[in-house]
Amino acid sequence: EGSLKGRDVLSWVDFASEDIEGLLESAGLLKEKQKHGIPHQTLAGRSLGMIFENASTRTRVSFEVGMTQLGGHALFLSSADLQIGRGEPIEDTARVLSRYVDAIMIRANDHEMVTRLAEMSDIPVINALTDDYHPCQALADMLTIQEHLGSLKGRKVVYVGDGNNVAHSLMIIAAKLGVDITLSTPKGYEGDQAVWEKAKDVAEDTGSKVEHVIDPHEAVQHADVVYTDVWVSMGAEKEQDIRNQAFEHYQVTDALMDQATDEAIFMHCLPAHRDEEVSADVIDGARSVVFDQAENRLHVQKAILQAVVR
Ligand code: CP
Ligand code: NVA
Repeated sequence: EGSLKGRDVLSWVDFASEDIEGLLESAGLLKEKQKHGIPHQTLAGRSLGMIFENASTRTRVSFEVGMTQLGGHALFLSSADLQIGRGEPIEDTARVLSRYVDAIMIRANDHEMVTRLAEMSDIPVINALTDDYHPCQALADMLTIQEHLGSLKGRKVVYVGDGNNVAHSLMIIAAKLGVDITLSTPKGYEGDQAVWEKAKDVAEDTGSKVEHVIDPHEAVQHADVVYTDVWVSMGAEKEQDIRNQAFEHYQVTDALMDQATDEAIFMHCLPAHRDEEVSADVIDGARSVVFDQAENRLHVQKAILQAVVR
């Protein structure tokens, strides 16, 4: 895992399966240490700059607390309050921050802007959500599945709803880790064709299955995990009405969960809208592991930070 030093985490596309597995193992160890009060201040004296163009609860707090627990420090930088907000180029921001901090975490709409930031930075850049990907979320999700189901390889994850950033990252990480993934979305919301191609390419090497099934009831047959996310992502608010219509038959309900395996768990990256993409019964019910997912964001961010900074 020392080999990840200096790497950017923009998506999992460029990462070896073994490296992702190493991060999961490291996150598990860090979680144990935290639970048992064993000190692990591996980033003492180090700083993380956290740029946010959009709102966040989990990502912001888990990265900030994670840095504290590792003995380092995190700076919350709202892009509106940075000079970026007044037109300073992202390239200059990258070069300046590289002189101060040891890593940058950024949440922005435009993935390409984050790529440019990473190119111009001398330090690791971590994607904390763009329109294209949410890699840190997907890693926390894999840790959560491993904890609840005992293994990853050969498990079947079914993502129901919008083929968005969260769905993209799940496809890529599932393919890398030998997890079967089915997306069930309406026509026109399948997600990015290029991401499908990448995931299918990877799956050929790992033996995972990457599929699209329009009908959610058909899709969740044999599912070990049923996952959903909001129908209207940040930045898509104008499309609220057409989206609510398009996804009408994609709500995760008890009836849908009943078609999955008996031990199937329900997952959601949060924030959630009860009785839109998921019924209140399901998200607040016994099969839901959404708060374990949220907790695991912390342990996973620490593993990523430690690997790329140290
Ligand atoms: N799941 C997630 O990234 O949550 P926040 O938007 O609260 O960070
Ligand atoms: N798909 C959601 C995820 C939020 C964590 C969004 O982009 O708003």
